[in-house]
Amino acid sequence: MTLEVNGRPMAVDTEGDTPLLWVLRDELGLTGTKYGCGLALCGACTVHLDGVATRCCVLPVEAAVGRKITTIEGLAPKDKPHTLQMLWIKHQVPQCGYCQSGMLMAAASLLAETPKPTDEQIDAAMTNICRCGTYPRVKAALQEARTLDLKKVPA
Ligand code: FES
Ligand code: FES
Repeated sequence: MTLEVNGRPMAVDTEGDTPLLWVLRDELGLTGTKYGCGLALCGACTVHLDGVATRCCVLPVEAAVGRKITTIEGLAPKDKPHTLQMLWIKHQVPQCGYCQSGMLMAAASLLAETPKPTDEQIDAAMTNICRCGTYPRVKAALQEARTLDLKKVPA
């Protein structure tokens, strides 16, 4: 089957019920997306499917055929970080970093849908688990993000 990943068609040779996470990591080498719980609980494996944050550890790859898959590697060009990535650095969000690609994908999806989220909307959207406890920093970065016109800031 062929998947559209980060704007490019990619052929994969796998069973249709293989979780998308393992296709991304093991077949396509896109290891920025992490495995945490395998139960759609922690958010470490969050990618975008047609722009919507999706936990791909329980998603059969066949369900992603014909949809636009974006991983952390495709969030922004390497030489031009996404505004959220710059805010993550500014607020020193990442600690060990393990959960952060999933955090960023969840945050990017939130802002695409709701550019100026309230604190309550941030809390509702950001349910990813972080063993390092970066939650206050994630929230601070998103509180700053909502003050920006993200359309005018380099994405
Ligand atoms: S690894 Fe997918 S939600 Fe935890
Ligand atoms: S930064 Fe370590 S798990 Fe979140």
